Amino acid sequence: MARVLIVGGGGREHTLAFFLRRSRDVEEVYIAPGNAGSALCGANIPIDATGGKNFSLLADFAQQKGIDLTVVGPEVPLCSGLVDYFKERGLMTFGPGSRAARLEGDKVFARRFMERYNIPQPAFAVFDRWPEAESYLHSLTERRIVVKAAGLAAGKGAIVCDNLAQALKAAEDILKNRVFGSAGNRVVIEEFLEGEEASLFAICDGRNALYLAPAQDHKRIFAGDKGPNTGGMGAYAPAPLVTAAVMERADREIIRPLLEAMAREGTPYQGCLYAGLMIKEEQARVVEFNCRFGDPETQVVLPLLDEDLYQLLAAAATGELESHWPELQLKQKEGAACCVVMASGGYPGAYEKGRIISGLPELTGAGDSRDLYFFHAGTGNDDSGRTVTTGGRVLGITGIGSTITAAIERAYQGVERIDFEQSYFRKDIGFKGVKTT
Ligand code: AMP
Ligand code: GLY
Repeated sequence: MARVLIVGGGGREHTLAFFLRRSRDVEEVYIAPGNAGSALCGANIPIDATGGKNFSLLADFAQQKGIDLTVVGPEVPLCSGLVDYFKERGLMTFGPGSRAARLEGDKVFARRFMERYNIPQPAFAVFDRWPEAESYLHSLTERRIVVKAAGLAAGKGAIVCDNLAQALKAAEDILKNRVFGSAGNRVVIEEFLEGEEASLFAICDGRNALYLAPAQDHKRIFAGDKGPNTGGMGAYAPAPLVTAAVMERADREIIRPLLEAMAREGTPYQGCLYAGLMIKEEQARVVEFNCRFGDPETQVVLPLLDEDLYQLLAAAATGELESHWPELQLKQKEGAACCVVMASGGYPGAYEKGRIISGLPELTGAGDSRDLYFFHAGTGNDDSGRTVTTGGRVLGITGIGSTITAAIERAYQGVERIDFEQSYFRKDIGFKGVKTT
């Protein structure tokens, strides 16, 4: 029986803990640092490596407990080399090493890599000095462009601009005013891609990839995709815009060439590869790669997966996907899933913490009805043991149904059960999926 350690403390990590706990091979789950939900699926460990530090403390813990597999949730520890360090210490770990994680951590690396291997992407240019960026922007005739800080900027580093003035301001803020610090040593200026976005998660073992259900996120704070970007206000899967033809092309034109080239360049990709795709007329182009599971998409793709999660992640970490899944296909459950994020009022700006949450299921935090899950994100326990809010995104309520419409309805029934002061959620999660079916 296996012991598993999960690194992180958000909705994604509670979901991972919940489904790993269910594996027939898993006897213990530890989550570092976890949240109030993960504490009900396993033991929370007060060692926080999510900022890219405390690796040796956490590896000491993993060795003492005889951890068989560590699963790393967030990008910062991945890009900072947690997996490389754990492997040096002989600990089996799911996730890419820091050099492979540059696909997320260094957008210049990612764009140039895609260029070398003809992976479909927007036209782009890279600058490390403001005067050159400025004259380049003046030379462009297209006014809708995207300006991005090359490094990690907590999801805020991409600025979609509608006119020259906005683009100039974005590039100047990044290169001259250093609003993202050293993450903005370079900017990528790229073509604005038209289409609809989808998130595709490939579980990779260095050579092969197995796909989870394609999902769609809702990044903006307000209904109708209005207002500022957030970490994600809800998701649903499977996304009908990712047709079988889109999947086949994404596999052939994006994921397989990437895996082959990463291996050839000496940085084989092991872990979850998250391809953010822009889809138009069944052609997918890469908006971005992330080196991890998405949040909140994990809250919809894992409930639909009809496989043992531990076996899958352990096989990926040991390079053995093909021997367990010779057809390179994962079984998915029938139906659809929809996750509505409940946030603290004010998010993604300032918000209050410490609000008492009522209506949550007791046992695993996530419930056990199989068609309704309550995944925790920013939650903790106060001195009296009550569950309280500790972050912007507080809960992800996932409903399962035979259709997307049924899944949406179920998720909102779950939302109705929960109460905390000044909670906020979008009322239109999943409707994009209904529209296109
Ligand atoms: P990123 O930080 O690269 O994930 O970008 C954040 C969001 O900005 C994406 O989810 C897209 O909605 C949007 N975006 C980024 N790059 C592009 C692009 N080249 N064309 C259109 N939208 C983009
Ligand atoms: N759902 C967006 C992200 O995980 O980056």
